[in-house]
Amino acid sequence: MQHYSEILSEVLISEEQLQARIAQLAQQLDADYATHPDLLLVCILRGGVMFLTDLMRKMTVPHQIDFMSIGSYGSGARSSTGNVRVILDLQTDIRGRHVVLVEDIVDSGHTLARVLELLNSRQPASLKVCCLLDKESRRQTPVPIDYVGFPIEDKFVFGYGLDLDEYWRNLPFIGVVG
Ligand code: IMP
Ligand code: MG
Repeated sequence: MQHYSEILSEVLISEEQLQARIAQLAQQLDADYATHPDLLLVCILRGGVMFLTDLMRKMTVPHQIDFMSIGSYGSGARSSTGNVRVILDLQTDIRGRHVVLVEDIVDSGHTLARVLELLNSRQPASLKVCCLLDKESRRQTPVPIDYVGFPIEDKFVFGYGLDLDEYWRNLPFIGVVG
């Protein structure tokens, strides 16, 4: 395991920038779900964890949380294939619920497309997507994203939930692999 400082080429988004933007997203969600106190935030493990916990602490609208874990077959760590599988499913019945998916990053869109298809089949009252980072230029499958933290360029990033070989998810900023 290499220390991140040997791999970091630049800090792309600082802790202050992250927290300021997440506060804005929380405010937007509070406003949009003010009349829907049955809101359920669904976090995709493991990368979305930091984002979820900071986001929910800044939200005031009543909500519940639940988790899913998704894997993709036959891919390296750095991009997903179309073959996405559910490793851990929700415990909550989402039929008739207002659901917001909380994701770390959308890259090809394969993971999100598959999760949306699966969750939509369970007939939620509504299903929206809130992702922290959007690598729009990498999209292979069109996916609707309702709340975006930061659009970013095609660079491999880590920190703030995103890993480098499963380490460094704890960093409070988003860094670029050099
Ligand atoms: P997609 O299915 O290609 O959109 O892939 C999304 C998943 O790939 C994310 O949830 C991340 O786990 C991973 N991923 C994509 N880009 C990056 C990156 O720059 N750093 C870390 N993980 C990434
Ligand atoms: Mg992820």
